[in-house]
Amino acid sequence: MIILAIETSCDETAVSIVEANGDLNNPQFQILSHQVASQIKEHAPFGGVVPNIAKREHLKNLPLVLNQALGEADLTPESVDAIAVTVGPGLEPALWAGITFAQELAVKWQKPLVPTNHLEGHAVSPLLKAENKVELPAVALIISGGHTELVLVKSFGDYERLGGTRDDAVGEAFDKVARLLGLPYPGGPEISKLASQPIGDTSGTEVSPMGQWHLPRPMIDSPNLDFSFSGLKTAVRYAIQKHGEMSEADKISLAREFQDAVIEVLLAKTLKALTQTGAQSLIIGGGVVANPRLREVFASAASQVHFSLHLPSLQLATDNATMIAMAGYFRYLAGEIIQPNQVLAPDAIIARGNLPLK
Ligand code: KG4
Ligand code: ZN
Repeated sequence: MIILAIETSCDETAVSIVEANGDLNNPQFQILSHQVASQIKEHAPFGGVVPNIAKREHLKNLPLVLNQALGEADLTPESVDAIAVTVGPGLEPALWAGITFAQELAVKWQKPLVPTNHLEGHAVSPLLKAENKVELPAVALIISGGHTELVLVKSFGDYERLGGTRDDAVGEAFDKVARLLGLPYPGGPEISKLASQPIGDTSGTEVSPMGQWHLPRPMIDSPNLDFSFSGLKTAVRYAIQKHGEMSEADKISLAREFQDAVIEVLLAKTLKALTQTGAQSLIIGGGVVANPRLREVFASAASQVHFSLHLPSLQLATDNATMIAMAGYFRYLAGEIIQPNQVLAPDAIIARGNLPLK
């Protein structure tokens, strides 16, 4: 079947068209089109996403992005079998932009609508590659600008939350620390770029030894599967204040130390989740999984501790609609659809900013 998916939960306006086949245990997906219009330029001056600007941009971009997606797939609306749309979690004004647009399409094209959870999208994002068959149960670590969650995947449709952040999300911590280092928004890619720079003057001598920064590893030994990243950001602020003038080498070594602190905590808690649940597969989803150092550290842990690791391609790590089409396919198989004559009924479909993954 052919699924058209719409994602507007944050600052990307995304439309994908995906051909989906097979059942829950053996799904096959093929991307027919994958369009993402980023609003980074709009939000960058504010240092973060402004919900009403996000909504305005989604409303402006959706018709254009839809046409690009249909064009790329070389399809007419008749070929589409269902429309999946993100209903949460996310920024409610932004979610509503996608939902109302999807409702209009469902009525105009007479196609069923599939309400889809953004977190399930991130959790299924590695399944695009056929070789990424995930043995269940699995643990999913979802790390993005809005979320830091450890989830037990009993099946794709039966989830149990194991833990999560008590304050800032990991991506948010990257973004805030980037600002402290004078880097633009979004800070995650900037920090990973900075951290990968060589340290040393032209003669190759280390001018700013790594050892000068000692950031905390918050909650690394706590007995639960929760996280806290706001103290880490504060620790970075104090470290910079105490240090004074920051050379380029100081910034590089601080970016590395921050990145290592975050990754160590994520790895420790994830290993604990694998041990506690007995799961032998790990899925990582969300924008922060684009971080090369994090991918490297988890890959080496997987080969040492023997669990199978499932990562999305970089294209599917940050927000996109292909992952919504894949999650939408699972919801469709489970019969969670709204027929076109029902989509405008009051309460048929609502945006839920805090929608959990269950
Ligand atoms: O999944 P996503 O696109 O949006 C949300 O659902 O939040 O994630 C965006 C987050 C941002 O905070 C961004 O800074 C972070 O992912 N991010 C990264 C990297 N690329 C994106 N964080 C660390 N390293 C990266 N390379
Ligand atoms: Zn996301």
